[in-house]
Amino acid sequence: MLQTSVLRALGRQGSPRLPLLGGRGARCFVSGAPSVCEDAAHARAYFTTPIFYVNAAPHIGHLYSALLADALCRFRGLRAPGAGAPRLSTGTDEHGLKIQQAAAAAGLAPHALCDRVSAQFRRLFQDAGVAATDFVRTTEERHRAAVQHFWGVLAARGLLYKGLYEGWYCASDECFLPDAKVTRQPGPAGELCPVSLESGHPVSWTKEENYIFRLSQFREPLRRWLRSSPRAIVPEPFHHAVLQWLEEELPDLSVSRRSSHLHWGIPVPGDDSQTIYVWVDALVNYLTVIGYPKAEFRSWWPAASHIIGKDILKFHAIYWPALLLGAGLSPPHRIYVHSHWTVCGQKMSKSLGNVVDPTACLDRYTVDGFRYFLLRQGVPNWDCDYYDEKVVKLLDSELADALGGLLNRCTASRINPSGTYPAFCTACFPSEPGLQGPSVRAQAEDYALVSAVAALPKQVAENYDNFQIYKALEAVSSCVRQTNGFVQRHAPWKLSWESPVDAPWLGTVLHVALECLRVFGTLLQPVTPNLADKLLSRLGISAAERGLGELHFLPRFCGHQCPFEGRRLGPDTGLLFPRLDQSRARMVKAHGT
Ligand code: MSP
Repeated sequence: MLQTSVLRALGRQGSPRLPLLGGRGARCFVSGAPSVCEDAAHARAYFTTPIFYVNAAPHIGHLYSALLADALCRFRGLRAPGAGAPRLSTGTDEHGLKIQQAAAAAGLAPHALCDRVSAQFRRLFQDAGVAATDFVRTTEERHRAAVQHFWGVLAARGLLYKGLYEGWYCASDECFLPDAKVTRQPGPAGELCPVSLESGHPVSWTKEENYIFRLSQFREPLRRWLRSSPRAIVPEPFHHAVLQWLEEELPDLSVSRRSSHLHWGIPVPGDDSQTIYVWVDALVNYLTVIGYPKAEFRSWWPAASHIIGKDILKFHAIYWPALLLGAGLSPPHRIYVHSHWTVCGQKMSKSLGNVVDPTACLDRYTVDGFRYFLLRQGVPNWDCDYYDEKVVKLLDSELADALGGLLNRCTASRINPSGTYPAFCTACFPSEPGLQGPSVRAQAEDYALVSAVAALPKQVAENYDNFQIYKALEAVSSCVRQTNGFVQRHAPWKLSWESPVDAPWLGTVLHVALECLRVFGTLLQPVTPNLADKLLSRLGISAAERGLGELHFLPRFCGHQCPFEGRRLGPDTGLLFPRLDQSRARMVKAHGT
């Protein structure tokens, strides 16, 4: 039984290839049964982060959104290199009442505030290794042209009309609210002030003539879209939530404001007295980036996957697909939704003074360390709490001790004096468990390890598909622990290269452990690109051998050749990930803080 599962995971039947995706139309193995993977079916993949408001400096929640998108995009690049480089866009959302008010409060012209904060986001993402191919600002001319064109299409299709809008508007959330979504809270002077029930932000009564989009016409088409694409919104509870919202009435949507009230925005074409609603303006960024309205945008649309926080689900899963359908375009391929980071159990906010600065975290924990922390601990389905001790504990145990220690154990010159990828001995580790013989040294747990690591790439791919990146990392970490157990069990430091009995088994133990490390390094590339590069370089794995298509784990176990056997390891460039509690202790000593 064990044998069958080991061999199946290793892909014994035919070749040692692992069941991963190739290029276009490749087979993938989501939820057991092989099926053509939706992601691979698109020749192109286009990932987007939300575009970020520039009313305040970035915090770790913003970085988290961007890192999720970056990891998905990098994983896609690893898995389907033949499909062409995937695209990753990010940028800043610079118009609207919120920015207009923030600039006034700071005594700045809106464009000066936008330039300053947009540059902070751009720098943060560069520093954090977010490999964005595009950075869009909604104040750019190319974006104004795209939005005005999109508006023109909606107007030409009879989907906009002028009408009186009367209701609540929340400037912080940039959204209209019905009475039922408004409550009263004591203000600074004790008086009762109307606020949004969901966000707690102040709302004000608005009554004006606006352009209105016939959103109500799209309730049925949206329901049909979601029912026929059950994976349009991932994870599933968010898909379900949107379908629930669509059970209720869907009123038409006011899509402009009087420019006397909102001047910081894109004017309605042909009517300067009105400014386009900032959410319509912002959502169109996803088209601007790919060249809309020029025909070239069609090679990227609808291959878009939007990564968003749960607070902006309604805008992306209802307004945006309805606007797209209205403009004669398809809804996006996928919407990946994540939850939020809180700090010591509280929402992060400037007024509470508990905002965690992501740049300081990257400095303190290193780029790869902080990326790993956010993606390992962030769970899309529910909120996560941030505190510093948690970061140190996780990184020290999983990256410094477990992974770094494993690499060190297998490459240290004391154990591996020849500095090579040693040979695997089939007599010591036969592919059939339970065989008796004088040379057989492998035990049942060793077969379990091989089986677990062989199954890991598929497990990781499934977790990426389901937007459970933390589970992918948990699975890698569990295999790292298992591999450390394997090394500990066979204590290669007690075996001698001089002994003809020990030497083949010593080589085999190191070979298996290095093969496991190669798999871990390959799978960690989307999350910790620098650390994975250091690991794979130390193993002597070239850039062309780091894709998922090349990941044939332990081919010698199935009687195939291993290209790495006998190869020299790469140079030793020091500890893979230095322990933070020690570096912190050094910092405290040096700075006396
Ligand atoms: N500008 C809009 C998005 C327009 S997209 C066409 C916006 N901007 S935002 O700056 O407020 O938020 C950007 C992203 O950061 C959202 O996905 C939001 O969910 C995310 N986060 C904001 N605070 C967050 C946390 N505390 N934790 C995790 N993500 C958070 O909304």
